[in-house]
Amino acid sequence: MSDKPDKLITDDGLRLDGRRADEIRPMKIEIGVLSRADGSCYLEWGRNKILVGVFGPREAHPRRLQRADTAVIRYRYNMASFSVEDRARPGPSRRSIEISKVSREAFEPVIMAELFPKTAIDIFVEILQADAGTRTAAINASSIALADAGIPMKGLVTSCAFGKVDGQIVLDLNKEEDNYGEADFPVAMTQDGEITLLQMDGHLTPEEIKKGLELIKKGCKEILEIQQTVLRKKFETPVEEPEAKAEETEIEAEETEPSLEYAPEAAVVEEVIEEAEELEEELSEETTEAGAVTETVPEAEELEEIVKEAEAEVVDGEAIEEAIEAEAEEEAEEETEEEAEEEAEEEAEEEAEEEAEEEAEEEAEEEAEEEAEEEAEEEAEEEAEEEAKGPWKVVKDPSESGSRGENDE
Ligand code: CDP
Repeated sequence: MSDKPDKLITDDGLRLDGRRADEIRPMKIEIGVLSRADGSCYLEWGRNKILVGVFGPREAHPRRLQRADTAVIRYRYNMASFSVEDRARPGPSRRSIEISKVSREAFEPVIMAELFPKTAIDIFVEILQADAGTRTAAINASSIALADAGIPMKGLVTSCAFGKVDGQIVLDLNKEEDNYGEADFPVAMTQDGEITLLQMDGHLTPEEIKKGLELIKKGCKEILEIQQTVLRKKFETPVEEPEAKAEETEIEAEETEPSLEYAPEAAVVEEVIEEAEELEEELSEETTEAGAVTETVPEAEELEEIVKEAEAEVVDGEAIEEAIEAEAEEEAEEETEEEAEEEAEEEAEEEAEEEAEEEAEEEAEEEAEEEAEEEAEEEAEEEAEEEAKGPWKVVKDPSESGSRGENDE
């Protein structure tokens, strides 16, 4: 164990790990880390490392512990022997039994245990590395593991401690502050602000407690946000924004519209024509005025030039229109040629098919005729043979009839 530092808070208000009085240590949460547990969580908070597994609701054993009207909540806080500087003695201790009890009570108001009578909900906490504030860290991790297990809860439970260090009230004590500070005050609360755990180790005035509880509210709010973010990341199904969908369909609609190769140029031509017409009108009006007022003549000249330019552009525009028409005609011709070729090919195919069918029919007929003729000939031959043999029936040679012939003899 390290010796007590001279100052736990520097003159500029910073703590040994660089935090301000109202800041919590960095927290990292992983959800669903144990495949055999119904819910699990691994949490790092500063140098604390904690693993929680939740099992249940499952049949409570031994059966005498079962309750007919509700589930039994069991919370077991355990420190790994390697989790602290000096070896922690394995097995339950006064301290771990106490922490298990107060932590279970911190969850009882939120877990809807009445929905699962005769069952047990087991929360196993393993402290892998301890660095002050392990009970609060374990409650934060258990909250996530319970949610991961799908245990119905009225809300999440968050936990944080404040303490008194060098006469100052600070949030979330680290190891040195816990060891050499004047007080340690762990608190757990529901997300509605209802306090479900409150302990005090040391001496604090009511004002100090009031100030500390304000810091706790701030700390628990930050922790709740971290917990919610982790849970949302795991369980929230992304919903497609209707606006985004509408935009997509618009883009698709734009893409599916036939692209007119000359459309932009045609639009420009139209604009130029319109401008030119307007200018002409204005010019005719102003030139009449110019006849009366000599000062306006230079403007009229300028306008004439603009009109000429516009006309030139119109000519260009006309040329483009002609080009469009010419191309459209060419395309139409090509299309008609292609159509004609396709029709000719189709006709040729149809003719070939018809011919093939006719040939097949003819062959089939010829074969049928030949077969009929052959059958007729064979029948005629057989009849002629029978007639030649006379009215007698053909009798088998007795010598060919095997044993029977032998017995007759
Ligand atoms: O961890 P928490 O602050 O909730 O409980 P504590 O009893 O105030 O313990 C403060 C710290 O003392 C623990 O976090 C451990 O780092 C350390 N400790 C230890 O070194 N050996 C023990 N047997 C128990 C606690």
